[in-house]
Amino acid sequence: MLRIGPLTPATNLLLAPIAGYCDLAFRTICREFGGLGLACTDLLSPQGLLRGTATSLDLAKTNDFDKPIGMQLYGADPEIMAQGARWAVEHGATVVDINMGCPVDKVTKKDGGSKLMTDLSRAVAIAKRVREELEKCPVSAEEWARRVNGSSAFVESHAPIAHNECRMPNAECRASGTITIPLTCKMRLCWHTSDFESGQACSPHLARMLADVGVAMVTVHGRTTEMKFSGVVQHAGIARVVEEVGGTIPVIGNGDVRTPEDARVMIAKTGCDGVMIGRGALAAPWLFRNTWALLSRGEHVPPPPEAEQLATIRRYFDLMRTQRDDRYAIYQINRRISWFAKNLQRPLPGGKMESVKPFKEAIRLARHADEVLDALERFGRGELRGAVAMAEAEDAA
Ligand SMILES: Cc1cc2nc3c(=O)[nH]c(=O)nc-3n(C[C@H](O)[C@H](O)[C@H](O)COP(=O)(O)O)c2cc1C
Repeated sequence: MLRIGPLTPATNLLLAPIAGYCDLAFRTICREFGGLGLACTDLLSPQGLLRGTATSLDLAKTNDFDKPIGMQLYGADPEIMAQGARWAVEHGATVVDINMGCPVDKVTKKDGGSKLMTDLSRAVAIAKRVREELEKCPVSAEEWARRVNGSSAFVESHAPIAHNECRMPNAECRASGTITIPLTCKMRLCWHTSDFESGQACSPHLARMLADVGVAMVTVHGRTTEMKFSGVVQHAGIARVVEEVGGTIPVIGNGDVRTPEDARVMIAKTGCDGVMIGRGALAAPWLFRNTWALLSRGEHVPPPPEAEQLATIRRYFDLMRTQRDDRYAIYQINRRISWFAKNLQRPLPGGKMESVKPFKEAIRLARHADEVLDALERFGRGELRGAVAMAEAEDAA
C-alpha cells in the first residue's frame, strides 16, 4: 500500500503531469476507467496563479470528482513557491508537488525544473520553505476527507471549481485543522548523462535530503536532463534512489510504461513503491485500470471494445467543451486523435489492416464541434475507414 504522508491512495498508480495534455477532462476519463491512485495537474507557474492569469487558472482547474489531486509548481524562488503552495492548498490540492525534472529551456533558464538538480541546496531550500508554508495552512479532517475521496461518481453538476472560489474551510475550521497537505517532488536522475554513467547521479542524495526536510514522496523519471525524452529509461538509476532512501519515503518509478507488463517490470527491477504513467495513458486512458488488474489480481484485461473507445473519445470531447470551450476542445481532439486512433485499427483478412486515416482526416479538418461529432458518428457506423497493407498501417500509426 502506497502512503504519501497522510494520504493512502486506492492504488499505487499515478498519472504523470504532461503539459498541455493532462487537463481536467483527460484526468476525468482516466479516473472513470478506474485504477488511478493519484493524478497531477500539469506544471503551474506560482506567479501566474497568484496574479490570477487565465492560463494558469485554467491549468489548475479541478473539481470534486478529480480527487485526490496533486498540483505541481515550478520555479526557483523559495518564497514564491511557498506562496504558490498556499494558493494550491486554498484551491483544492490534495498534494503539492515541486517540479525538479522539466528539461525545457523556458523553465531551466529561470533555474527551475531540472536545473534544480544542478543546485541541490536551492532545491532543498525550496522544499523546506514550501513544507513550512504547508504546515502553516493545514486543512480540517472533514476537508481532507473531501480531498482524498472526492465524490465517487462524476455528476455533470461537478463544474470546475470557480477561479476565485477559495476551498479553504472557514477560519474556525482552520484553527482546528489537523492535516498538513503533503509535499512531493518529481525529478530526473541528474543533469549530465556522463554523471549517471560514472555512478555520480545526484538523485539518490537529493531524494534523501528532501526526505529529511519533510518531503513525503519522490518520483524519479529514469532519464537524465540531457536525454530529454530519448534513449532508454534507466531502471538502475531509479533503483539507486530506492536503495538510498531505504524506505523512509516512497519512491515512484516513471518512464516508458506503455503496458501493464511494463509497470510490473518497473517495480520488479527498481523496487519502487508505485508507478507513474504519462504518454502511455494518452493513447489508452484505461491503462491504469488494466495495470491495476495485473498488479493486484494477476489479471490480463483486454482494451475496451471499439464502441467503448469511441464513446470515450466522445466523452472526452464533451467534457472539454463544458469545462473549457469549443475552441479548446477542437484544438485538443485534433492534436490527440492519432493517439486515440492507434487502438482503433483492426486487422482485416488477407494481411491487411483497417485504415483509420479518413477518420483522422475528418477530425483534423473539423472547424466546428458538430463536425467532430459527425465524424465520430460516421466512424461508429462503419464509415471513414479504408484498408491498407499491414506495414503501411503501422507506419501511419
Ligand atoms: C509533452 C510533455 C510534457 C510534459 N510536461 C511535464 C510537466 O508539466 N511536469 C512534469 O513533471 N513532467 C512533465 N513531463 C514529463 C512526464 O511527466 C514524464 O516524466 C515523462 O513523459 C516520462 O514518462 P512517460 O514515458 O510515462 O511519458 C512532460 C512530458 C512530455 C512528453
